[in-house]
Amino acid sequence: MSIQQFPGFIDIHVHLRQPGATQKEDFFTGSRAAVKGGFTCVLDMPNNPGDPTISLDKLEEKIQLARSARCDIGFYYGTDGNNLDSFPKAATEAYLFGLKLYMEDTTGELLVEDATKIAAIFAAWKSDKPILIHAEGEHIGVAFDLAQSYHRRIHVCHVASWEDLVLVRKAKEKGLSVTCGVTPHHLFLSQTDRTRLGSFAQVMPSIGDTSDQNALWEGVVDGTVDVVESDHAPHTMAEKHTNPPAFGVPGLETTLGLLLLAVHQKRISLETVVKLLYDGPRKIFSIPIQQKTYIELDPVKPFIAGALGYETKCAWSPFDGWELYGQVQTVVLRGKPVVQNAKVI
Ligand code: NCD
Ligand code: ZN
Ligand code: ZN
Repeated sequence: MSIQQFPGFIDIHVHLRQPGATQKEDFFTGSRAAVKGGFTCVLDMPNNPGDPTISLDKLEEKIQLARSARCDIGFYYGTDGNNLDSFPKAATEAYLFGLKLYMEDTTGELLVEDATKIAAIFAAWKSDKPILIHAEGEHIGVAFDLAQSYHRRIHVCHVASWEDLVLVRKAKEKGLSVTCGVTPHHLFLSQTDRTRLGSFAQVMPSIGDTSDQNALWEGVVDGTVDVVESDHAPHTMAEKHTNPPAFGVPGLETTLGLLLLAVHQKRISLETVVKLLYDGPRKIFSIPIQQKTYIELDPVKPFIAGALGYETKCAWSPFDGWELYGQVQTVVLRGKPVVQNAKVI
């Protein structure tokens, strides 16, 4: 094959860290990593360490800061359970794509554990934009029950275990308005990589075993999985060496290459890649088609991850040295080239 054109892909789950933790990433470096990896639109999470996006002022600040970005950026609103009054206004903001609720411990200070608070959050989010949950096991069940009671749309982030995938599949069969995403690291890494990579494979939810991995691939193939989300969660190498280490791995520059590796391995088709990185995200978030916005790459041509360095400020990847496929050669955003000859302009 040769160079082919695809739409600019959409990553619905990234942490670009500005403001609050710009030693890890900022909108400039994070968006360069995005376009290098074939994404022209990313949706940024609210759990900025030390500076969460839980007020209208904070949201406005982020929108202004993101003007330095090289791609389109949308945002999620965060909640600590004490900012429900600001939901109606936040939900109508054009740059806002949903509410993020953290029901498990992870990076940042937005864990909400209290059952009454969680119910109040679902009650107060009177919007057609989805509630995205970081939840596992029985917490997913709690969220599904509330979503049903209050008629809310719900997206389960980074499904990582076979048990949680079964929960999502059953909820979909019951007709709940639920979607889910999986990450490339949960699809491509398992127990041997956990041992090999140590803290550089430490992520929330944690990397599972081959049984989880196989179930996630089945979910991709049978359509239970709506999107692949990178959960691009950069931390400095020093932060990965602390005890306990920071949770999370970067993903913007390797996600597409990994999915094209899966095409090469005949696990999925090229059409499925477009469905997971474009049609799925557009459908969940009603993202319009961008005119004169596309990427170009040769999907069967191998390349080595990290061989040309990284655009992400953290400058490492759990997939460093892997043979991936389809290095992005060109990215054009509304008629303006942002990547040429595989280099960010
Ligand atoms: C994410 C981060 O660092 O912001 N970390 C992670 O391990 N996935 C937070 C999250 O997505 O839970
Ligand atoms: Zn999470
Ligand atoms: Zn995340």
